[in-house]
Amino acid sequence: MCGIFAVVNDKTNYAAQTVLAGLKKLEYRGYDSWGIVIKPLKSDTLRVKKHAGKIGQAKTSLPQGTIALGHTRWATHGGVTDENAHPHLDCQKQLAVIHNGIVENYLEFKEELIKKGHKFSSETDTEVIAHLIEEKIKNKPTTHAVFETFKALSGSNAIAVLDTKLEAIIACRNGSPIVVGIDKKNHQYFLGSDVPAFFKYTNCVYFLNDGESVVINKHGIKLFDLKTEKEKRLITQTLDWKLEDAEKGGFSHFLLKEIHEQKETIAKTAGLNGKEIKKVVKMIKDGNKIVLIGCGTASYCALAGKYFFSRAGVESQVYQANEFLPFSHFCDKQTVLIAISQSGETADTLIAAQTAKKNGAKVVAVVNARGSTLERLVDVVLPVDTGPEIAVVSTKAFTAQLATLYLLTMSVANKNSPGQKKINQLSKVLTQWLDVQLINQLINIVKSLIDEEHVYVIGKNLNYPAASEFALKIKETSYLHAEAFAAGELKHGVITLIQKNTPCFVLASNDETKNEVLSSAAELKARGGRIIGVAPFTSPEFDELIKTPDLGDLTIFGNIIVGQLLGYYLGIGRGADPDKPRNLAKSVTVK
Ligand code: M6R
Repeated sequence: MCGIFAVVNDKTNYAAQTVLAGLKKLEYRGYDSWGIVIKPLKSDTLRVKKHAGKIGQAKTSLPQGTIALGHTRWATHGGVTDENAHPHLDCQKQLAVIHNGIVENYLEFKEELIKKGHKFSSETDTEVIAHLIEEKIKNKPTTHAVFETFKALSGSNAIAVLDTKLEAIIACRNGSPIVVGIDKKNHQYFLGSDVPAFFKYTNCVYFLNDGESVVINKHGIKLFDLKTEKEKRLITQTLDWKLEDAEKGGFSHFLLKEIHEQKETIAKTAGLNGKEIKKVVKMIKDGNKIVLIGCGTASYCALAGKYFFSRAGVESQVYQANEFLPFSHFCDKQTVLIAISQSGETADTLIAAQTAKKNGAKVVAVVNARGSTLERLVDVVLPVDTGPEIAVVSTKAFTAQLATLYLLTMSVANKNSPGQKKINQLSKVLTQWLDVQLINQLINIVKSLIDEEHVYVIGKNLNYPAASEFALKIKETSYLHAEAFAAGELKHGVITLIQKNTPCFVLASNDETKNEVLSSAAELKARGGRIIGVAPFTSPEFDELIKTPDLGDLTIFGNIIVGQLLGYYLGIGRGADPDKPRNLAKSVTVK
């Protein structure tokens, strides 16, 4: 939700151009508008360029300079206009502010500031930050004015301020991510919402914690504790990512690259977390309740987890994190809450995890992005380490999380090594299956679906969460209305939606529910539906079959990947941007 990027001591002297390139890598965090501010080499007057719309092919003619700050916006307060694009300046135009989050108490500040004569030029909550700092600067040094202002803001926020007099960037974090990159060789410093923005310059990073601030100028970088306003030691870490992880690597879109990466990422996940999984198994055996939570795709992963746990002989509960609070009081010391999140920054998931923790529950995170807020608040982290997931819609993180939950449940049933073997075999089989022939078949099906208004997806048992994720991928990536139903639910009402040639995907596995699902397929067919089977077997009920590998409980992996690929090619065919679907942001850091 909004991307922040800054450079200090840009060695090319074209800091605005460096920031523009970095912002393009962060666009998945929001693409309603973008903006850059620079302190020019030969002037103290800040220069700003900002526009509504995607950053796409944008160029900038901002003057030379060594320090610049930029932003890509996912609009919350104020419409998508040039004026509401960040950065926002104070009345004197001495400082520029960009922001990720929501200032919940901005209206009270705005009224006071207007009374004091401040002039506002946008409808955003962010602009109050610039004017508040301007007020405080009258009595104290800029750095402390920024600290004090930031501490007065309620909500989850991250800000970065460019001060022209200090020639410094001051950034503060509370709930929204900020990471700094240090390029020691070239004496350059970077600041971003996420690592891909600066990864080509350095892998030496520091993820800010909540309640911390950094001040970066040409002499170096200082870390502060916001509570005490005292400097503290900054200990960097070196990331072992590869540069290709943050690039498209020959694929036309990150989404397609990330779908194909699943051939490796699922198996890689299986080799991680041995010790941590043992810890979680013990927690589960010592407790009496398991709760799984997540939002969107992660919530479908949680739901699949519930089926996996049941197959391991253990009962569990699932909530969408955003609907968890009414039930949070049932969590206590005997509860193990498993929070699933790609980003580890989803506000609803964080609130649910914090609440459960307050009630005494043990909290486990199954996350992909490293250094996240979720990671810091939980008892055990099960990282899935698929590398940066840059496409807005989640694919490889989801399947790695699913594999992690499968392994956890197999360990609960004392079947850790068979679980590992099955995941490794799954990976090999997927690699062979995901070939040109499959892609050509999917593209032909996509061609026949381009002008449809609705498609339906059914599944039973593990294929029910799989169907839900399958439908979400199609909706998100191509804007085609796809609705998932539990196969057994059709006859209770939804079958009214089926007419002649209505496309119906039937997800199935060779399991105990096969015949029931085929009966549901027959019911759809009898109403004229066009039945596209996604399964490891043929059936007279299917008009067409997309054959997936037969892997027992793990058959759902192939079934889901079909949905990811259909979503991608439908997106292309229907003129959507598969990497950046409209209205969405990669991490939803607001409630
Ligand atoms: O980062 P998280 O996994 O917590 O994000 C949760 C959802 O916002 C996310 O899965 C969303 O549904 C994506 N658009 C899925 O493709």
